[in-house]
Amino acid sequence: MHRRFMAPGALAAASLMLVIPASAASHAPGAPGIGDPYYPAYGNGGYDVSHYDLRLTYRPATDELEGTATLLARTTRDLSRLNLDFLLDVGEVRVNGAKAAFATSGEHELEITPKKPLDKGTDLTIVVRYKGVPSSKKAYGFTSWHRTPDGGVAANEPEAAWWWFPSNDHPLDKATYDVSVQVPDGTQAISNGTLQSTSSRLGWTRYNWRSGKPQATYLATLAVGRFDVTTGTSDSGIPVVNAYSKDLGPHNGAARASVERTGEIADWLSEFFGPYPFDALGGYVPNTDTGYALETQTRPFYSPRQFANGSNTSVVVHELAHQWYGDSVSVKGWKDIWINEGFARYAQWLWSEHEGEGTASEIAAYTYASRPADDPFWTVKPGDPGPENQFHGAVYDRGALALQALRDTIGDDAFFTILKGWTAKHAYGNASVADFRRYAEEVSGQPLAALFDTWLFQPSKPSAAVARAASV
Ligand code: ARG
Ligand code: ZN
Repeated sequence: MHRRFMAPGALAAASLMLVIPASAASHAPGAPGIGDPYYPAYGNGGYDVSHYDLRLTYRPATDELEGTATLLARTTRDLSRLNLDFLLDVGEVRVNGAKAAFATSGEHELEITPKKPLDKGTDLTIVVRYKGVPSSKKAYGFTSWHRTPDGGVAANEPEAAWWWFPSNDHPLDKATYDVSVQVPDGTQAISNGTLQSTSSRLGWTRYNWRSGKPQATYLATLAVGRFDVTTGTSDSGIPVVNAYSKDLGPHNGAARASVERTGEIADWLSEFFGPYPFDALGGYVPNTDTGYALETQTRPFYSPRQFANGSNTSVVVHELAHQWYGDSVSVKGWKDIWINEGFARYAQWLWSEHEGEGTASEIAAYTYASRPADDPFWTVKPGDPGPENQFHGAVYDRGALALQALRDTIGDDAFFTILKGWTAKHAYGNASVADFRRYAEEVSGQPLAALFDTWLFQPSKPSAAVARAASV
């Protein structure tokens, strides 16, 4: 050892090294984000969740949610610590049975330090006991928990989970779910998937929901309120469960006239996208004035506002199209949002054609022509819109124009083969815009880099000549 070349303190550090077991040296804290450039703090590094078991009680009168989340996970590297994303108040955390230390940091991080460092490949059972008033919690100044007169709803994109369960909050880490929620008798708890059972005692009713196919965290939903529930079966045999707030006022008729067509619409979509990917289906309409709908898995969330002008089957088509494009095949990163929204919008255009309200090609031509070149709409790049424009109208409309251009370039046979083949190839997984381009090139046998660049990645209106070539 060449002591005289060592910096002050190095000797102390060197001797300390000798007393640390060799295996612990590589155990570092897991990253506080999964590595999404749009949202660096979303999700976490170092582990993968396979199942969420949520056993909760909710009190509508006071908006108090409490209970236990049990996460089954596995480490993907040596860890001294790991993070979850969460906002409610944590009382206790256990990792594989042993109490773990925990602390909060950042906007929504829960840092968990297990008693002993965890080796890569370790199976974890993480139990988090918690409570809180979701509507009182804000991150980055907003809340995704929408209070209603008779309860509340968790629905937003990309962030919804933080207000009701601790998670690895990114679509890259999908898992199955059991969501069991106890609410006062006379109130319902609605979630994803299949209602396994209900039970009542002591003035409380417990609803046990199961979502048995991989599901991204933002697609998990909980709504508590007074609902009318309808059940049925689609022609293709999928059980349908819909729920309507008892308090939809003048929107009640239009909401039901739209959402009750869920089975018919899902079956129609399967002609384009292939078999419906899940074993449950439905929709729910809580009494909220939220501006958007959301493709919560198997059971989309609709705001009554969608039905303010009468029936709106188009929004049902949009959210159900996402069950294939978004829910079964999810983004790899949030910059890939076109993989979701471009296709859900295009499905609406196909539905318009089906309903005799204008063909997809006509709507594309109209959309192209009605926006002058200096419309800021054309500065948004659907293929990489930036987090601030993730849900800009251009991601939807220009995104669907890109699909019409693709269809016109490669022909209907290749186009519709791709729509089906893609959902089969990436079912229950994740994919990117670049993956889609490569797949479209492979199936069509044509180079498509220029087409994708023009329609998805240029901050300007594609020229009339380019549009004519694509006949939009
Ligand atoms: N994926 C949803 C839809 O297209 C959009 C949700 C928009 N979210 C938001 N916070 N604006 O139906
Ligand atoms: Zn959408």
